Amino acid sequence: MLHNLLQEKKGIIFGALDEHSIAWQAARSIKAAGGNFVLTNTPIALRLGKLNQLAEECQATIISADATVVADLENLLEQAMTVLGGKIDFILHSIGMSPNVRKQRSYGDLNYDWFLKTLDISALSFHKILQTAEKLDAMNEWGSIVALSYIAAQRTFPDYSDMAEAKAMLESIARSYGYRFAKNKKVRVNTISQSPTHTTAGSGVPGFDKFYEYAERMSPLGNASAEDCANYIVLMFSDLSRMVTMQNLMHDGGFSSVGITEQIVDTL
Ligand SMILES: NC(=O)c1ccc[n+]([C@@H]2O[C@H](COP(=O)([O-])OP(=O)(O)OC[C@H]3O[C@@H](n4cnc5c(N)ncnc54)[C@H](O)[C@@H]3O)[C@@H](O)[C@H]2O)c1
Repeated sequence: MLHNLLQEKKGIIFGALDEHSIAWQAARSIKAAGGNFVLTNTPIALRLGKLNQLAEECQATIISADATVVADLENLLEQAMTVLGGKIDFILHSIGMSPNVRKQRSYGDLNYDWFLKTLDISALSFHKILQTAEKLDAMNEWGSIVALSYIAAQRTFPDYSDMAEAKAMLESIARSYGYRFAKNKKVRVNTISQSPTHTTAGSGVPGFDKFYEYAERMSPLGNASAEDCANYIVLMFSDLSRMVTMQNLMHDGGFSSVGITEQIVDTL
């Protein structure tokens, strides 16, 4: 089905933790499309998660890196180029975490050290990856870099808390660095704004199940699954999307264009 769209392409996938992770499904789809890659996550995620299983399935090497630590990213990119035998064609940033959300601090009582941690992990890490890749000249021309976002960057979803600011920053970095990377290296940078998805990060948002159900009823096509998102990521890494850059791409079954639906009216 994926027609070898990524034949000969080499990349790095951040953020696969378990089979529910969007990055896990992305790795499977990218492999099915002929791509090769290195898998990476934090040392603790490597200890607690199941990444070995995915690495075996996809014949991929695992290189540990904390995406907030530039020295880790330098090591990762250098090692990835050695393992893969050349420069990189695609990078997936599928990373998000808010200590305030995790510890259920309300938006009116945020811990600011944690807020900075949210921004560092969920947004600034994207800039660090882009800047490190550019400085090391690690990307091939017409390469593609994608990060995952959420519509709380544009609209208020109260329980999403400081992750909303992180996603707004993430999307802004995609535009600003996308400009620079396109001019300097013909590399494109985009974000995909995904429907609510049952994953460790997604389910950490309070009231996630109701939130998920609401989005399902508000989306004419229903919520986009992790597998659908994975296929969209393949498209964005392929040459079929080579002139798309600096965009926030809605992958949400139509949610973002809807005012109200019959299903919502019927529940009132
Ligand atoms: N699940 C949803 O509802 C949903 C919706 C829209 C967007 N997203 C976004 O998708 C992305 C992936 O999340 P997911 O839903 O697959 O959940 P997930 O919990 O499976 O993935 C999050 C990943 O971030 C990694 N991570 C955390 N801190 C890190 C660090 N310092 N360095 C490197 N990696 C780190 C975790 O180990 C984990 O693998 C996130 O950006 C998330 O915000 C998720």
